[in-house]
Amino acid sequence: MTENLPRLNDTGVLCLGEYRFERLALGAMRLLSTNAEKDGRSIECYADPVDPEANCALMRAAVSQCGIGYVDFARGYGARPGAGERWFMKWMEPYLKEVLWATKVGYDRDAEGGWVLDLDPDFLRREIELSVELLGKPIPLLYLTAGSTDDVTIRHRQKSVVDSFRPLLECYERGEATHLGVANVTAQELQQLLDVAPIGMVQNKFTVSSLAQPEQRAVLDLCRSKNIPFVAWGIFQSDDDGPWVPGDQLVEAAREMSVTPQEASIAILLNYDPNFVVLTGVSRPKSLASSVRAANMKVPVEILNRFRSERD
Ligand SMILES: NC(=O)c1ccc[n+]([C@@H]2O[C@H](COP(=O)([O-])OP(=O)(O)OC[C@H]3O[C@@H](n4cnc5c(N)ncnc54)[C@H](OP(=O)(O)O)[C@@H]3O)[C@@H](O)[C@H]2O)c1
Repeated sequence: MTENLPRLNDTGVLCLGEYRFERLALGAMRLLSTNAEKDGRSIECYADPVDPEANCALMRAAVSQCGIGYVDFARGYGARPGAGERWFMKWMEPYLKEVLWATKVGYDRDAEGGWVLDLDPDFLRREIELSVELLGKPIPLLYLTAGSTDDVTIRHRQKSVVDSFRPLLECYERGEATHLGVANVTAQELQQLLDVAPIGMVQNKFTVSSLAQPEQRAVLDLCRSKNIPFVAWGIFQSDDDGPWVPGDQLVEAAREMSVTPQEASIAILLNYDPNFVVLTGVSRPKSLASSVRAANMKVPVEILNRFRSERD
């Protein structure tokens, strides 16, 4: 099933300490979890994977065949916090030393079983302990999920994001995490964190249309100025709960490049800024192959320039 996958072909390798990785990364949420049915509605990614063997094969093929060198997941994926991490350790066992992998802390479950983000330092301290126990130490990259999309309730938001980040710093100082990162952060919060912590990666929701949105651009620009890789997730997701509708400019660019809007999104972001890393969230080999082909593309300058703004 995973034969004939294309290989990443020099997308501009980035480094995080001793780790080197191509700029297309695997977002493993959909492999480590499945949507659950609750009271007749589908809630995103709260259950164990339906076909663990196929998912394991896809994850391993992403590394061994496609050359993906960074795999991203979170403590919150799966039927309950830690469930996805358990799958991950089993499946990635042959590659745990050579590949950069990351987990994130912050997500808990609410009374209905849905996601809630808890930024209480004591809660985060306990979650980190549980992740270290399960994943072993050191964890190559540990993120704080510092914010979320509007559909997720945030509990115990602290006066400063630094207070929620402190448990991660303690973990780093004990040698239990090699690198630290932050997800879903504003430029102001990132600046506060940079004053106290060695932030190695930033991960925010970012689409091609975010290139024109000042608040989102501010985080990207700050990362660029500090040489911090900026990981884009949700690149085919809308800003609300609705289905993703690619803008006219993206549809036109995709048509000219003879690719799909999804492929054009990946190619444009990676060509736009050498600091971008794109997370491909896949559950089928077909989507993985399409994302790898897109990551290998060179986008003509005249197309890229249409997405540039005065900030560039
Ligand atoms: N920091 C955070 O708060 C946060 C939140 C959510 C997610 N994330 C990270 O971001 C990653 C990506 O998010 P996501 O998993 O929701 O995925 P996504 O990037 O939003 O997209 C996933 C969907 O797009 C399809 N797809 C993927 N590549 C495609 C391609 N080249 N052409 C056409 N369709 C394609 C997939 O299809 P198939 O499934 O059929 O293959 C899947 O249905 C997650 O895995 C996770 O690591 C972070």
